[in-house]
Amino acid sequence: MSTKNKEAAIGVFDSGVGGLTVAKEIIKRLPHENLIYLGDTARVPYGTKSSRTVIAYSKGNASFLVSKGIKLLVVACNTASSVSLPPLSDELNIPVIGVIEPGARKAAGITKTGKVGVIGTYSTIRSNAYKNALERISPGIEVFSKPCPLFVGLADEGWTEGAITELIARQYLSDLKETGIDVLVLGCTHYPLLKYVIQNTVGEGITLVDSAQETALEIESVLSQHKELNKSITNGTRKFYLTDVSDTFVSIAGRFLGEKIDNIEMVDIAGTPK
Ligand code: DGL
Repeated sequence: MSTKNKEAAIGVFDSGVGGLTVAKEIIKRLPHENLIYLGDTARVPYGTKSSRTVIAYSKGNASFLVSKGIKLLVVACNTASSVSLPPLSDELNIPVIGVIEPGARKAAGITKTGKVGVIGTYSTIRSNAYKNALERISPGIEVFSKPCPLFVGLADEGWTEGAITELIARQYLSDLKETGIDVLVLGCTHYPLLKYVIQNTVGEGITLVDSAQETALEIESVLSQHKELNKSITNGTRKFYLTDVSDTFVSIAGRFLGEKIDNIEMVDIAGTPK
């Protein structure tokens, strides 16, 4: 494999800022990799849209990143991963990694009761992507899914703790807690920000699985198999493309990524469903 391919960037896209939780884990795990992030902030949210629309948007996002010469594509958005992974993998000749499979594999591997909970957006839960992946990995496993759409707004607003967030978490999660699950998959880019409240609500007996962390491990393993890990000794470059830049973006994004964001550029992406 040529050096050029090793130095090519990892491309990551999400519907907006949420995928920065995945970017953060990639940077932590693979600091020497160059990273190009595309946030489709003009068309967010994906979580309430139809599969047809999300697939069309995802294809547009993917071809933009491919045009930047990336060596691997990460679909950081759970909603996009749940419906667009097969079409993207078919069309592209670079590895395509989503967040569903790594999260499901981890959850299936650690459950002792054989009962796993999954929370995500309406579209992710409706797609049954996590349920199907879990049942394929571990036949006989029982999956209890629940959409928790308000968690997205709470994380965007920075309401990651406090009475209102606890109340909403209780409303969403108390039924799930009674099912006997011992693992709960955080199946949305925003939910890791609410980890503390979610963990307190479901109790210590339920282990939370953060798909972002598992995805970073998967990326490392795929790049290593392809002999494409960047062996540079300096930290990689970061570039952020957005389809809309709002005043609040930089502060929200900093919270999701855990570091200040610069090097932002606005782009137009095609991909409206026909
Ligand atoms: N990034 C989305 C996800 O992980 C959440 C935000 C949205 O609905 O677009 O499902």
